[in-house]
Amino acid sequence: MTGAADFRSDTITRPTPAMRQAMAGAEVGDDVFGEDPTVRLLEEQVAARLGQEAGLFVPSGTMGNEIAVCVHTRPGDEVILEATAHIFLYEGGAPAFLAGVQCLPLVGTRGLFDRRQLEEVLHSDDAHYPRSRLVAFENTHNRGGGRVLPQAALDDLCALAHERGLATHLDGARLWNAAIATGRPLAELAHPFDSISVCFSKGLGAPVGSVLSGSRAFIAEARRVRKKLGGGMRQVGILAAGALHALEHHFERLAEDHARARRLAEALADLPGLCIDPASVETNIVILELTPEAPPPARWLDALRAEGVLAVAFGPRGIRLITHLDLDDAAIRHATSAFARVAPTLAPR
Ligand SMILES: Cc1ncc(COP(=O)(O)O)c(C=O)c1O
Repeated sequence: MTGAADFRSDTITRPTPAMRQAMAGAEVGDDVFGEDPTVRLLEEQVAARLGQEAGLFVPSGTMGNEIAVCVHTRPGDEVILEATAHIFLYEGGAPAFLAGVQCLPLVGTRGLFDRRQLEEVLHSDDAHYPRSRLVAFENTHNRGGGRVLPQAALDDLCALAHERGLATHLDGARLWNAAIATGRPLAELAHPFDSISVCFSKGLGAPVGSVLSGSRAFIAEARRVRKKLGGGMRQVGILAAGALHALEHHFERLAEDHARARRLAEALADLPGLCIDPASVETNIVILELTPEAPPPARWLDALRAEGVLAVAFGPRGIRLITHLDLDDAAIRHATSAFARVAPTLAPR
């Protein structure tokens, strides 16, 4: 796999020498005692950027999301989310396993449902129904092709949820990308939500870590749940230092990943067997749909791998490519020419 252009995920990046140096030199303490200064600095900085009162360092985006579900709900409650949300599809059934809640997935368009859909499923206070308790969103949206969800719609949906007494959570694993793509401050994107989870191990290129943020009271509860899940870590400033370094040095450069993803989509748009609207590529994710005559994704992935390009299947008829810190312009050229060789053999016109 060495030397391959690896587009499988933005999680595959390795820490840069400067990041490793920052991690090695981190000031640390026992974070379960609240004594790790680097963790505290990260939690404060992230909360401030998101316009929230407090933050909590957690090992993964999944733990950030699932702690939020646990804190906002009680067993038997209902969590409303879009049917392709990471929390629903890719967290191992954790809302049921950990929080004992029922998920109500709404089929939306590229990661978002509309106001009417939400209104229709909010239950009245009748003991037959589960209690509607939490609405969860994801921005940018992975299955939505890295789409930046429209802020006005999010504001409106969250206002409706709040009017009806529900809490709101944002899976902001790639909220950084949304901020760079829109030029809007993170605090504005985070504003309508009661809790937000952000990841450092995706486009920002740190090896580990997420921060869950919200009100002081929410984070105090979240800290208790993190402990129950075994997520209380000790001299973890070593990891927080990687996240701080990523925030300082790798945030603005996400614009490069977005430009490369768009260029890649433009280069692949006219190839046989592939369907992609380059204008739909807003951030670092490119989802290629295969035309009905084209063979299934596995055939493409094998042929691409033989050309030194790695990607993943996305659903039964899709291929996903993600740009990131470890991919430069040469990698885009490499992928473009690999696809140009592979496509005519797999999907002759
Ligand atoms: C949108 C989204 N949310 C949450 C996660 C979970 O993050 P982690 O792998 O750190 O648990 C991911 C992981 O890729 C993701 O893409």
